[in-house]
Amino acid sequence: MRTQVGIIGAGPAGLMLSHLLHLQGIDSIIIENRSREEIEGTIRAGLLEQCTVDLMKSTGVAQRMMREGHFHEGIELRFKGKGHRIDIHELTGKKVTVYAQHEVIKDLVQARLDADGTIIFSVHDTSLHDLETTQPTMRFKREETGEQEEIICDYIAGCDGFHGPSRPAIPETVRKEYQKKYPFGWLGILAEAPPSSPELIYANHERGFALVSTRSPEIQRLYLQVDQNDKIENWSDERIWEELQLRLASHDGFKLIEGPIIQKNIVSMRSFVCDPMQYERLFLAGDAAHIVPPTGAKGLNLAMADVQVLAHALGEFYRERNPGFLQNYSDTCLRRVWKAERFSSYMTTMLHRHDEHTPFEQQIQLAELDYVTSSRASSTSLAENYAGLPVECPKDWIKKLETPLLKN
Ligand code: DHB
Repeated sequence: MRTQVGIIGAGPAGLMLSHLLHLQGIDSIIIENRSREEIEGTIRAGLLEQCTVDLMKSTGVAQRMMREGHFHEGIELRFKGKGHRIDIHELTGKKVTVYAQHEVIKDLVQARLDADGTIIFSVHDTSLHDLETTQPTMRFKREETGEQEEIICDYIAGCDGFHGPSRPAIPETVRKEYQKKYPFGWLGILAEAPPSSPELIYANHERGFALVSTRSPEIQRLYLQVDQNDKIENWSDERIWEELQLRLASHDGFKLIEGPIIQKNIVSMRSFVCDPMQYERLFLAGDAAHIVPPTGAKGLNLAMADVQVLAHALGEFYRERNPGFLQNYSDTCLRRVWKAERFSSYMTTMLHRHDEHTPFEQQIQLAELDYVTSSRASSTSLAENYAGLPVECPKDWIKKLETPLLKN
């Protein structure tokens, strides 16, 4: 088989890249090691920056999100038992949207299949070859046949997450990896209960961080800071609610609405960056290149920004024979990635309980929260980063794409 751009991974990055390439008349094939049911059913984060929403709208995949998403103009930071609202919209003119990642995936898979795009699901033994030549290849085995197949490409996009084969295909002598692991994780639940709050609540408490988010008028999404080695078996539903009630208690009459817990899991937290994000004809995007702790809600949005830069760069190459944007891909993305890493680390440090903190450091943390919620300059900075920094792509490049698929 042959294609212009071989894409490894049908997460948000791989699917959106394939969609953006298609809109420019560029051919791609996605291979994915999980099944369609699995990628469409895995519960992940769900907060979209304005530019992610704009990207979906301008490329015709936003209809369901506009109907079912929740548009928020602010967030609450809660500490010392009191809530403080950051008015994101007033400070930046932007909003954020709560719409689950697996719903984004469903919409993008549908868009690719409707356009006769190729996604090969449930592959295994994926490997990358000949990256230094003009014909890099992806090899894999199909679930049905078990036989090895090969796709010859012009370029390969590694959108295969942190544990995928793409990043290790960059020689160790070429790549530098930066990382920080946190000694805590997040226990996330989905609960059948109406929203306890119209906006997200990020709570700093001496027992640890808690977050109130939402999914629909019937389902709440909530998170608790837990020890990194904690096991989900240690957390009965009763204990989860007890802990959430303690950490979210406030003096202003807030009531946390409880309900049956329908899903729970623990995720670990790390910050990670691979530099460069490109090697010869391989381009990394999303979690394959970088990980953020979830506190700033940046993971999915960074992936969408990467592929916007990459799709534009590939378009310039195929349309104009201009390789300049491709050559700058890694530097362009990393400038934004490092700012999101900084913000995610800042939010994580400010909001979590750190067992190693001295009483002095605990007071500094509270002073930081007091400052960010009382100074317009500081809250504007938080709001600007939370709503999303601009993607370095020429303005309106998507609007210029001529295709009958561009509706909305
Ligand atoms: C959600 C996840 C986040 O990491 C966050 O910062 C806000 C919301 C969510 O899953 O809803």
